[in-house]
Amino acid sequence: MTDITSRTEAALAAIAAATSLDALEAERLETLGKKGWVSLALKTLGGMTPEERTQAAPAIQSARAAIADALDAKKAALEAAALEEQLARETVDLTLPAAAAPRGSVHPVSQVMDELAEIFADLGFAVATGPEIEDDWHNFTALNMDETHPARAMHDTFYFPDKTLASSSEAVGQQKTPEGREVLLRTHTSPVQIRAMLDQGAPIRIIAPGRVYRSDSDATHTPMFHQVEGLVIDKGIHLGHLKWTLETFFKAFFEREDITLRLRPSYFPFTEPSVEVDVGYSNEGGRRVVGGHGDAPGHAWMELGGSGMVNARVLEFAGLDPKEWQGFAFGLGIDRIAMLKYGMNDLRAFFDGDPRWLAHYGFSPFDQPTLSAGVGARA
Ligand code: PHE
Repeated sequence: MTDITSRTEAALAAIAAATSLDALEAERLETLGKKGWVSLALKTLGGMTPEERTQAAPAIQSARAAIADALDAKKAALEAAALEEQLARETVDLTLPAAAAPRGSVHPVSQVMDELAEIFADLGFAVATGPEIEDDWHNFTALNMDETHPARAMHDTFYFPDKTLASSSEAVGQQKTPEGREVLLRTHTSPVQIRAMLDQGAPIRIIAPGRVYRSDSDATHTPMFHQVEGLVIDKGIHLGHLKWTLETFFKAFFEREDITLRLRPSYFPFTEPSVEVDVGYSNEGGRRVVGGHGDAPGHAWMELGGSGMVNARVLEFAGLDPKEWQGFAFGLGIDRIAMLKYGMNDLRAFFDGDPRWLAHYGFSPFDQPTLSAGVGARA
């Protein structure tokens, strides 16, 4: 007992005397940490008889409460002091001439999203959005990928662990929505197709640009990247409409007429038939330039995304009658088409936030893309 009282007093004194968050953390580990003496003392309660426990428990528990309170209070005080110190140190001289201050720029991804919206608006498409934190029904099931579908595994999905389980035991379950659906970061913009169909019914003409997430990282893949989804639902829609739309878009986007597209047969669970979309380019002075024929010498094809006719099962999941409505969908990598148009070669630099890169590749906020002035014009 006296031992606990004196150790508690010593701990409270050490906490009061701590001058840094590191020193405070060291004291926390010594007392309340997994191997701290308070935690160890608490563990001994389990081996006691009920009488012994009634005797010993209050002292240990009040020691723990007193130390925890003192740690919290001291932590808040140290953080407040650090903030005060930082505020005193970081001052901004508002009398500096504005021209000398660094100017922000519009990120190429934002610029390209604006360009997309502008071009597709001209074709009668509205911009739709959906949540980045999705559930597995919208992201997979309604897109004709049931629980056992192998494509689910291929998506390298980030799931949300169940916080209540994670803190109380080793077992980490998955967080669920009230409907019992797993919570995840969307792996593509295709769930917006489902949301659009459920929300507005048919006919539909939308694009949905946004962030998507996959557990993947190298020079051409980042865990977060951008896609634009396109969805058209109407009567009598066929593959020709898809091809014309993509061609018309790419001509406007790359601002040249000699765009060649290659549609390659492919497979996506949510489209039938499915095609992958490649664009022809050539290397000119170390820079990739879109245009010309991808099979000619010196030319190559770059894959820009997937597309196809919306699978009848998907229409059914989204409450539309496939006998009445047909449609096409596509999903393009925004970062990729931005790299191709503006000549960057490392995707990772997009998300480093380096002001030199942004000054070089960024756009003036005054340079709004418009079809009449050119969707990629620089000020
Ligand atoms: N969602 C697919 C992907 O991310 C792309 C796609 C969209 C394919 C729409 C077909 C139709 O890989």
